Amino acid sequence: MTSILQCIDCAQQYPIHSVIYACQACGGLLDVKHDFDAGGLKITRELFDGRLGAFAAPYNSGVWRYKELVYPGIDASGIVSRMEGNTNLYAMPRVAAFAGVENLFLKHEGENPTGSFKDRGMTTGVTQAKALGMQRVACASTGNTSASMASYAAYAGLQGIVFLQDQQIAMGKLAQGIAYGATCIQIKADFDRNMELVQQVSQRLGIYVLNSINPFRLEGQKSIMFEALQQLRWQAPDWIVAPGGNLGNSSAFGKALLEMLEVGLIDRMPRLAIIQADGANPLYRHFRAGFRNFEPVNARTIATAIKIGNPVNLQKAIRTLEWTNGLVEEVSDEQIMDAKAVVDGAGIGCEPASACSVAGVKKLVANGAIKPGDTVLAVLTGNILKDPEATIGYHADQLAGITPGARNRILQADDDIDQILSLLA
Ligand code: F0G
Repeated sequence: MTSILQCIDCAQQYPIHSVIYACQACGGLLDVKHDFDAGGLKITRELFDGRLGAFAAPYNSGVWRYKELVYPGIDASGIVSRMEGNTNLYAMPRVAAFAGVENLFLKHEGENPTGSFKDRGMTTGVTQAKALGMQRVACASTGNTSASMASYAAYAGLQGIVFLQDQQIAMGKLAQGIAYGATCIQIKADFDRNMELVQQVSQRLGIYVLNSINPFRLEGQKSIMFEALQQLRWQAPDWIVAPGGNLGNSSAFGKALLEMLEVGLIDRMPRLAIIQADGANPLYRHFRAGFRNFEPVNARTIATAIKIGNPVNLQKAIRTLEWTNGLVEEVSDEQIMDAKAVVDGAGIGCEPASACSVAGVKKLVANGAIKPGDTVLAVLTGNILKDPEATIGYHADQLAGITPGARNRILQADDDIDQILSLLA
Protein backbone atom coordinates (compact mmCIF):
# COMPACT_ATOMS: atom_id res chain seq x y z
CA MET A 1 0.00 0.00 0.00
CA THR A 2 1.34 3.43 -0.91
CA SER A 3 -1.29 5.26 1.18
CA ILE A 4 -3.01 4.81 4.53
CA LEU A 5 -5.47 6.68 6.73
CA GLN A 6 -4.00 8.04 9.94
CA CYS A 7 -5.56 9.82 12.92
CA ILE A 8 -4.15 13.31 13.42
CA ASP A 9 -4.43 12.97 17.20
CA CYS A 10 -3.41 9.44 18.22
CA ALA A 11 -1.71 8.31 14.95
CA GLN A 12 -3.84 5.14 14.75
CA GLN A 13 -3.69 3.82 11.18
CA TYR A 14 -6.38 2.29 8.97
CA PRO A 15 -6.32 0.67 5.52
CA ILE A 16 -6.93 3.10 2.67
CA HIS A 17 -10.22 1.40 1.73
CA SER A 18 -11.85 1.90 5.15
CA VAL A 19 -15.15 3.77 4.96
CA ILE A 20 -14.56 5.93 8.02
CA TYR A 21 -14.35 9.69 8.56
CA ALA A 22 -12.96 9.74 12.11
CA CYS A 23 -10.59 7.69 14.20
CA GLN A 24 -12.39 4.65 15.67
CA ALA A 25 -10.14 4.83 18.73
CA CYS A 26 -10.29 8.52 19.72
CA GLY A 27 -12.65 10.28 17.29
CA GLY A 28 -9.88 12.45 15.77
CA LEU A 29 -9.83 13.64 12.17
CA LEU A 30 -8.12 11.44 9.60
CA ASP A 31 -5.31 12.24 7.20
CA VAL A 32 -4.52 10.37 4.02
CA LYS A 33 -0.79 9.68 4.26
CA HIS A 34 1.26 8.69 1.25
CA ASP A 35 4.61 7.04 0.88
CA PHE A 36 6.23 9.45 -1.56
CA ASP A 37 9.13 7.09 -2.20
CA ALA A 38 7.00 4.04 -3.00
CA GLY A 39 6.69 4.55 -6.76
CA GLY A 40 10.43 4.72 -7.24
CA LEU A 41 9.82 8.03 -9.00
CA LYS A 42 11.56 11.09 -7.63
CA ILE A 43 9.13 13.96 -7.05
CA THR A 44 10.72 17.06 -8.57
CA ARG A 45 9.74 20.41 -10.04
CA GLU A 46 10.78 19.04 -13.44
CA LEU A 47 8.40 16.07 -13.14
CA PHE A 48 5.40 18.39 -12.79
CA ASP A 49 6.70 21.05 -15.18
CA GLY A 50 7.05 18.34 -17.84
CA ARG A 51 3.31 17.59 -17.59
CA LEU A 52 2.16 21.16 -18.23
CA GLY A 53 0.03 21.36 -21.33
CA ALA A 54 -0.64 17.60 -21.33
CA PHE A 55 -3.61 16.60 -23.52
CA ALA A 56 -4.15 13.13 -22.10
CA ALA A 57 -5.74 12.06 -18.83
CA PRO A 58 -4.93 12.12 -16.01
CA TYR A 59 -2.20 14.78 -16.32
CA ASN A 60 -4.46 17.20 -18.20
CA SER A 61 -6.15 17.83 -14.84
CA GLY A 62 -4.72 20.48 -12.52
CA VAL A 63 -5.27 18.03 -9.68
CA TRP A 64 -3.97 14.79 -11.18
CA ARG A 65 -0.89 16.49 -12.65
CA TYR A 66 0.36 16.06 -9.08
CA LYS A 67 -0.86 12.46 -8.77
CA GLU A 68 2.21 11.36 -6.79
CA LEU A 69 1.27 13.87 -4.08
CA VAL A 70 -2.50 13.40 -4.31
CA TYR A 71 -3.18 9.67 -4.60
CA PRO A 72 -0.18 7.78 -5.96
CA GLY A 73 -1.67 4.29 -5.75
CA ILE A 74 -4.94 4.92 -7.60
CA ASP A 75 -5.24 3.31 -11.01
CA ALA A 76 -5.50 6.06 -13.62
CA SER A 77 -8.42 4.27 -15.32
CA GLY A 78 -10.49 4.70 -12.15
CA ILE A 79 -10.09 8.47 -11.93
CA VAL A 80 -13.24 10.59 -12.29
CA SER A 81 -11.98 13.90 -13.64
CA ARG A 82 -13.48 16.90 -15.39
CA MET A 83 -10.03 18.35 -16.10
CA GLU A 84 -10.51 20.52 -13.02
CA GLY A 85 -7.93 22.99 -11.80
CA ASN A 86 -5.70 24.62 -14.41
CA THR A 87 -7.00 27.93 -13.09
CA ASN A 88 -5.37 31.27 -13.76
CA LEU A 89 -3.13 33.30 -11.52
CA TYR A 90 -3.73 37.03 -12.01
CA ALA A 91 -1.39 39.84 -11.08
CA MET A 92 -3.80 42.76 -10.83
CA PRO A 93 -2.21 46.14 -10.00
CA ARG A 94 -5.63 47.74 -9.36
CA VAL A 95 -6.61 45.13 -6.81
CA ALA A 96 -3.10 45.23 -5.31
CA ALA A 97 -3.37 49.01 -4.91
CA PHE A 98 -6.74 48.63 -3.15
CA ALA A 99 -5.29 46.03 -0.79
CA GLY A 100 -2.12 48.07 -0.20
CA VAL A 101 0.56 45.64 -1.41
CA GLU A 102 2.92 45.82 -4.37
CA ASN A 103 2.75 42.16 -5.37
CA LEU A 104 -0.64 40.53 -5.19
CA PHE A 105 -1.46 37.35 -7.10
CA LEU A 106 -5.05 36.18 -7.34
CA LYS A 107 -5.51 32.43 -7.80
CA HIS A 108 -8.95 32.15 -9.35
CA GLU A 109 -10.56 28.92 -8.27
CA GLY A 110 -13.89 30.17 -9.61
CA GLU A 111 -12.57 29.07 -12.99
CA ASN A 112 -13.11 25.40 -12.17
CA PRO A 113 -15.75 23.35 -14.08
CA THR A 114 -18.58 24.07 -11.61
CA GLY A 115 -17.27 27.48 -10.61
CA SER A 116 -15.51 26.83 -7.32
CA PHE A 117 -12.46 25.15 -5.79
CA LYS A 118 -14.67 22.29 -4.62
CA ASP A 119 -14.11 20.48 -7.92
CA ARG A 120 -10.52 19.81 -6.91
CA GLY A 121 -11.66 17.90 -3.86
CA MET A 122 -14.60 16.33 -5.62
CA THR A 123 -12.50 14.62 -8.29
CA THR A 124 -10.56 12.82 -5.55
CA GLY A 125 -13.63 12.22 -3.36
CA VAL A 126 -15.74 10.76 -6.15
CA THR A 127 -12.79 8.75 -7.44
CA GLN A 128 -12.53 7.18 -3.98
CA ALA A 129 -16.31 6.62 -3.87
CA LYS A 130 -16.00 4.63 -7.12
CA ALA A 131 -12.96 2.74 -5.84
CA LEU A 132 -15.00 1.74 -2.78
CA GLY A 133 -17.93 0.61 -4.93
CA MET A 134 -20.31 3.21 -3.49
CA GLN A 135 -23.58 3.90 -5.30
CA ARG A 136 -24.70 7.01 -3.43
CA VAL A 137 -22.80 10.05 -2.22
CA ALA A 138 -24.04 12.86 0.03
CA CYS A 139 -23.02 16.19 1.49
CA ALA A 140 -24.33 19.06 3.55
CA SER A 141 -23.52 22.32 1.84
CA THR A 142 -23.78 26.07 1.81
CA GLY A 143 -24.02 25.59 -1.97
CA ASN A 144 -20.71 25.07 -3.73
CA THR A 145 -19.93 21.61 -2.41
CA SER A 146 -23.41 20.51 -3.45
CA ALA A 147 -23.04 21.99 -6.94
CA SER A 148 -19.71 20.27 -7.38
CA MET A 149 -20.78 16.95 -5.90
CA ALA A 150 -23.98 16.91 -7.98
CA SER A 151 -21.91 17.40 -11.12
CA TYR A 152 -19.24 14.81 -10.36
CA ALA A 153 -21.79 12.26 -9.13
CA ALA A 154 -23.81 12.61 -12.33
CA TYR A 155 -20.65 12.43 -14.42
CA ALA A 156 -19.58 9.23 -12.64
CA GLY A 157 -23.04 7.63 -12.74
CA LEU A 158 -23.62 7.87 -8.98
CA GLN A 159 -26.63 9.26 -7.15
CA GLY A 160 -25.88 12.54 -5.41
CA ILE A 161 -27.86 13.64 -2.34
CA VAL A 162 -27.48 17.16 -0.97
CA PHE A 163 -28.60 18.58 2.36
CA LEU A 164 -29.24 22.31 1.97
CA GLN A 165 -30.39 24.92 4.41
CA ASP A 166 -33.86 26.25 3.65
CA GLN A 167 -32.71 29.87 3.43
CA GLN A 168 -29.74 31.93 2.33
CA ILE A 169 -28.46 29.68 -0.41
CA ALA A 170 -27.12 31.55 -3.43
CA MET A 171 -29.26 31.07 -6.52
CA GLY A 172 -26.51 29.93 -8.86
CA LYS A 173 -25.53 27.13 -6.51
CA LEU A 174 -29.07 25.91 -5.87
CA ALA A 175 -29.71 25.91 -9.62
CA GLN A 176 -26.62 23.77 -10.24
CA GLY A 177 -27.58 21.10 -7.70
CA ILE A 178 -31.03 20.74 -9.23
CA ALA A 179 -29.79 20.87 -12.82
CA TYR A 180 -27.13 18.20 -12.33
CA GLY A 181 -29.86 15.90 -11.09
CA ALA A 182 -28.94 15.46 -7.43
CA THR A 183 -31.61 14.67 -4.88
CA CYS A 184 -31.84 18.07 -3.16
CA ILE A 185 -33.35 18.26 0.32
CA GLN A 186 -33.91 21.71 1.78
CA ILE A 187 -33.92 21.29 5.54
CA LYS A 188 -35.14 23.73 8.15
CA ALA A 189 -31.74 23.83 9.79
CA ASP A 190 -28.48 25.69 9.33
CA PHE A 191 -25.33 24.28 7.74
CA ASP A 192 -23.83 23.12 11.02
CA ARG A 193 -26.91 21.06 11.90
CA ASN A 194 -27.11 19.69 8.34
CA MET A 195 -23.51 18.57 8.71
CA GLU A 196 -24.57 16.40 11.67
CA LEU A 197 -27.66 15.14 9.90
CA VAL A 198 -25.87 14.09 6.73
CA GLN A 199 -23.40 12.02 8.73
CA GLN A 200 -26.12 10.28 10.72
CA VAL A 201 -28.31 9.56 7.69
CA SER A 202 -25.37 8.37 5.61
CA GLN A 203 -24.23 6.01 8.34
CA ARG A 204 -27.68 4.43 8.49
CA LEU A 205 -28.09 4.07 4.74
CA GLY A 206 -24.53 3.24 3.69
CA ILE A 207 -24.06 6.46 1.74
CA TYR A 208 -20.57 7.89 1.20
CA VAL A 209 -20.10 11.34 2.75
CA LEU A 210 -18.29 13.86 0.55
CA ASN A 211 -17.95 16.80 2.91
CA SER A 212 -14.43 17.87 3.78
CA ILE A 213 -14.35 15.61 6.86
CA ASN A 214 -13.68 13.07 4.11
CA PRO A 215 -9.87 13.25 3.92
CA PHE A 216 -9.79 12.39 0.20
CA ARG A 217 -11.46 15.74 -0.50
CA LEU A 218 -8.54 17.54 1.09
CA GLU A 219 -5.98 15.57 -0.92
CA GLY A 220 -7.47 17.08 -4.08
CA GLN A 221 -7.69 20.56 -2.61
CA LYS A 222 -3.98 20.48 -1.84
CA SER A 223 -3.47 20.98 -5.57
CA ILE A 224 -4.52 24.64 -5.27
CA MET A 225 -1.17 25.14 -3.55
CA PHE A 226 0.76 22.86 -5.88
CA GLU A 227 -0.55 24.64 -8.95
CA ALA A 228 -0.24 28.18 -7.60
CA LEU A 229 3.34 27.57 -6.47
CA GLN A 230 4.17 26.01 -9.81
CA GLN A 231 2.76 29.14 -11.48
CA LEU A 232 5.03 31.18 -9.22
CA ARG A 233 7.94 29.06 -10.54
CA TRP A 234 8.09 27.28 -7.18
CA GLN A 235 9.03 30.48 -5.34
CA ALA A 236 7.01 30.64 -2.13
CA PRO A 237 5.26 33.97 -1.51
CA ASP A 238 5.46 35.62 1.90
CA TRP A 239 1.75 35.18 2.50
CA ILE A 240 -1.11 33.00 1.36
CA VAL A 241 -4.53 34.41 2.18
CA ALA A 242 -7.81 32.50 1.97
CA PRO A 243 -11.34 32.57 3.40
CA GLY A 244 -12.21 30.09 6.15
CA GLY A 245 -15.59 28.40 6.60
CA ASN A 246 -15.57 24.68 7.29
CA LEU A 247 -11.75 25.03 7.16
CA GLY A 248 -11.18 22.30 4.59
CA ASN A 249 -9.10 24.52 2.35
CA SER A 250 -7.01 25.89 5.20
CA SER A 251 -6.34 22.32 6.32
CA ALA A 252 -5.47 21.16 2.82
CA PHE A 253 -3.14 24.13 2.28
CA GLY A 254 -1.14 23.36 5.41
CA LYS A 255 -0.70 19.72 4.44
CA ALA A 256 0.22 20.66 0.87
CA LEU A 257 2.83 23.21 1.93
CA LEU A 258 4.39 20.87 4.46
CA GLU A 259 4.62 18.09 1.87
CA MET A 260 6.10 20.46 -0.71
CA LEU A 261 8.80 21.44 1.76
CA GLU A 262 9.39 17.79 2.63
CA VAL A 263 9.95 16.69 -0.98
CA GLY A 264 11.86 19.86 -1.85
CA LEU A 265 9.41 21.54 -4.26
CA ILE A 266 9.66 24.77 -2.24
CA ASP A 267 12.49 26.11 -0.10
CA ARG A 268 10.61 27.95 2.62
CA MET A 269 7.23 27.98 4.33
CA PRO A 270 4.91 30.87 3.49
CA ARG A 271 2.61 32.22 6.21
CA LEU A 272 -1.10 31.50 5.93
CA ALA A 273 -3.77 34.03 6.85
CA ILE A 274 -7.28 32.65 7.22
CA ILE A 275 -10.03 35.25 6.88
CA GLN A 276 -13.51 34.89 8.35
CA ALA A 277 -16.60 37.06 8.17
CA ASP A 278 -17.06 38.80 11.52
CA GLY A 279 -20.52 37.25 11.87
CA ALA A 280 -19.18 33.73 11.26
CA ASN A 281 -15.85 33.87 13.06
CA PRO A 282 -15.44 30.85 15.38
CA LEU A 283 -11.81 30.26 14.35
CA TYR A 284 -10.95 33.93 14.71
CA ARG A 285 -12.30 33.96 18.28
CA HIS A 286 -10.55 30.71 19.10
CA PHE A 287 -7.27 32.06 17.72
CA ARG A 288 -7.60 35.25 19.76
CA ALA A 289 -8.31 33.18 22.88
CA GLY A 290 -5.08 31.20 22.42
CA PHE A 291 -6.99 28.13 21.23
CA ARG A 292 -8.56 27.57 24.64
CA ASN A 293 -12.18 26.35 25.02
CA PHE A 294 -13.55 26.39 21.50
CA GLU A 295 -17.07 27.76 21.21
CA PRO A 296 -19.21 27.46 18.09
CA VAL A 297 -21.06 30.59 16.97
CA ASN A 298 -24.47 31.22 15.45
CA ALA A 299 -23.27 32.26 12.01
CA ARG A 300 -24.57 35.28 10.07
CA THR A 301 -22.98 36.84 7.00
CA ILE A 302 -23.79 37.91 3.47
CA ALA A 303 -20.98 35.60 2.37
CA THR A 304 -23.33 32.62 2.62
CA ALA A 305 -20.64 30.16 1.46
CA ILE A 306 -18.85 30.62 4.77
CA LYS A 307 -21.89 31.02 7.02
CA ILE A 308 -20.56 28.29 9.29
CA GLY A 309 -20.37 28.37 13.09
CA ASN A 310 -18.87 24.98 13.95
CA PRO A 311 -16.21 24.02 11.40
CA VAL A 312 -15.52 20.29 11.11
CA ASN A 313 -11.85 20.71 10.24
CA LEU A 314 -11.02 22.90 13.23
CA GLN A 315 -8.16 20.72 14.53
CA LYS A 316 -6.53 20.45 11.13
CA ALA A 317 -6.76 24.21 10.68
CA ILE A 318 -5.08 24.80 14.06
CA ARG A 319 -2.31 22.43 13.00
CA THR A 320 -1.94 24.39 9.76
CA LEU A 321 -1.67 27.68 11.66
CA GLU A 322 1.14 26.16 13.72
CA TRP A 323 2.98 24.77 10.70
CA THR A 324 2.77 28.04 8.78
CA ASN A 325 3.12 30.50 11.66
CA GLY A 326 -0.26 31.61 10.43
CA LEU A 327 -2.91 33.96 11.72
CA VAL A 328 -6.64 34.52 11.55
CA GLU A 329 -8.39 37.82 10.78
CA GLU A 330 -12.03 38.86 10.50
CA VAL A 331 -13.69 41.29 8.10
CA SER A 332 -17.14 42.86 8.04
CA ASP A 333 -19.77 42.16 5.39
CA GLU A 334 -19.28 45.70 4.08
CA GLN A 335 -15.52 45.15 3.75
CA ILE A 336 -16.22 41.87 1.94
CA MET A 337 -18.65 43.47 -0.51
CA ASP A 338 -16.42 46.49 -1.16
CA ALA A 339 -13.47 44.19 -1.87
CA LYS A 340 -15.69 42.12 -4.15
CA ALA A 341 -16.67 45.25 -6.06
CA VAL A 342 -12.98 45.98 -6.65
CA VAL A 343 -12.23 42.43 -7.83
CA ASP A 344 -15.37 42.48 -9.99
CA GLY A 345 -14.57 45.95 -11.31
CA ALA A 346 -11.09 44.78 -12.35
CA GLY A 347 -12.85 42.46 -14.79
CA ILE A 348 -12.18 39.27 -12.87
CA GLY A 349 -15.07 38.86 -10.46
CA CYS A 350 -15.75 36.49 -7.59
CA GLU A 351 -18.46 35.56 -5.15
CA PRO A 352 -18.75 37.28 -1.75
CA ALA A 353 -16.90 34.66 0.34
CA SER A 354 -13.96 34.77 -2.06
CA ALA A 355 -13.57 38.51 -1.58
CA CYS A 356 -12.68 37.80 2.06
CA SER A 357 -9.18 37.13 0.79
CA VAL A 358 -8.73 40.60 -0.67
CA ALA A 359 -10.57 42.33 2.18
CA GLY A 360 -8.35 40.37 4.55
CA VAL A 361 -5.13 41.44 2.84
CA LYS A 362 -6.26 45.06 3.05
CA LYS A 363 -6.99 44.76 6.75
CA LEU A 364 -3.74 42.91 7.50
CA VAL A 365 -1.75 45.58 5.66
CA ALA A 366 -3.59 48.29 7.60
CA ASN A 367 -2.80 46.66 10.94
CA GLY A 368 0.81 45.98 10.00
CA ALA A 369 0.80 42.17 9.86
CA ILE A 370 1.45 42.18 6.11
CA LYS A 371 4.12 44.63 4.89
CA PRO A 372 3.43 46.54 1.67
CA GLY A 373 6.53 44.94 0.13
CA ASP A 374 5.45 41.37 0.92
CA THR A 375 4.44 39.05 -1.91
CA VAL A 376 0.89 37.85 -1.36
CA LEU A 377 -1.08 35.03 -2.95
CA ALA A 378 -4.82 35.44 -2.37
CA VAL A 379 -7.21 32.65 -3.27
CA LEU A 380 -10.51 33.54 -4.95
CA THR A 381 -12.63 30.51 -4.15
CA GLY A 382 -15.78 30.98 -6.25
CA ASN A 383 -17.16 32.43 -9.47
CA ILE A 384 -18.94 35.79 -9.79
CA LEU A 385 -22.08 34.10 -11.21
CA LYS A 386 -22.70 32.03 -8.10
CA ASP A 387 -24.50 34.76 -6.18
CA PRO A 388 -26.05 37.36 -8.50
CA GLU A 389 -28.46 38.53 -5.79
CA ALA A 390 -25.64 39.75 -3.56
CA THR A 391 -23.96 41.53 -6.47
CA ILE A 392 -27.12 43.27 -7.68
CA GLY A 393 -28.23 44.06 -4.14
CA TYR A 394 -24.92 45.81 -3.51
CA HIS A 395 -25.01 47.97 -6.62
CA ALA A 396 -28.69 48.79 -6.03
CA ASP A 397 -27.82 49.74 -2.44
CA GLN A 398 -30.40 47.31 -1.14
CA LEU A 399 -28.28 45.28 1.27
CA ALA A 400 -29.22 45.84 4.92
CA GLY A 401 -26.35 47.25 6.95
CA ILE A 402 -24.06 47.79 3.96
CA THR A 403 -23.22 51.14 2.41
CA PRO A 404 -21.66 50.35 -0.95
CA GLY A 405 -18.28 52.01 -1.43
CA ALA A 406 -17.93 51.23 -5.13
CA ARG A 407 -21.42 51.37 -6.57
CA ASN A 408 -22.16 50.96 -10.27
CA ARG A 409 -25.72 52.21 -10.59
CA ILE A 410 -27.95 50.85 -13.35
CA LEU A 411 -29.23 53.82 -15.35
CA GLN A 412 -32.80 53.91 -16.65
CA ALA A 413 -34.05 55.48 -19.85
CA ASP A 414 -37.15 55.66 -22.03
CA ASP A 415 -36.99 54.69 -25.69
CA ASP A 416 -35.61 58.17 -26.39
CA ILE A 417 -32.24 58.87 -28.02
CA ASP A 418 -31.90 62.33 -26.47
CA GLN A 419 -32.42 60.93 -23.01
CA ILE A 420 -29.80 58.23 -23.61
CA LEU A 421 -27.37 60.80 -25.08
CA SER A 422 -27.79 63.01 -22.05
CA LEU A 423 -27.10 60.05 -19.75
CA LEU A 424 -23.81 59.47 -21.56
CA ALA A 425 -22.83 63.13 -21.80
N1 F0G B 1 -15.29 30.09 -0.40
C1 F0G B 1 -16.31 29.50 -1.01
C2 F0G B 1 -16.80 30.07 -2.30
C3 F0G B 1 -16.92 28.35 -0.45
O1 F0G B 1 -17.94 27.77 -1.07
C4 F0G B 1 -16.44 27.87 0.79
C5 F0G B 1 -17.04 26.70 1.43
C6 F0G B 1 -15.36 28.52 1.36
C7 F0G B 1 -14.81 29.62 0.76
C8 F0G B 1 -14.77 28.07 2.65
O2 F0G B 1 -13.98 26.95 2.46
O3 F0G B 1 -15.05 25.39 4.04
O4 F0G B 1 -12.82 24.92 3.07
O5 F0G B 1 -13.12 26.72 4.76
N2 F0G B 1 -18.13 26.18 1.08
C9 F0G B 1 -18.68 24.92 1.61
C10 F0G B 1 -19.86 24.46 0.81
C11 F0G B 1 -18.84 24.89 3.05
O6 F0G B 1 -20.72 23.76 1.35
O7 F0G B 1 -19.92 24.76 -0.36
P1 F0G B 1 -13.72 25.93 3.65
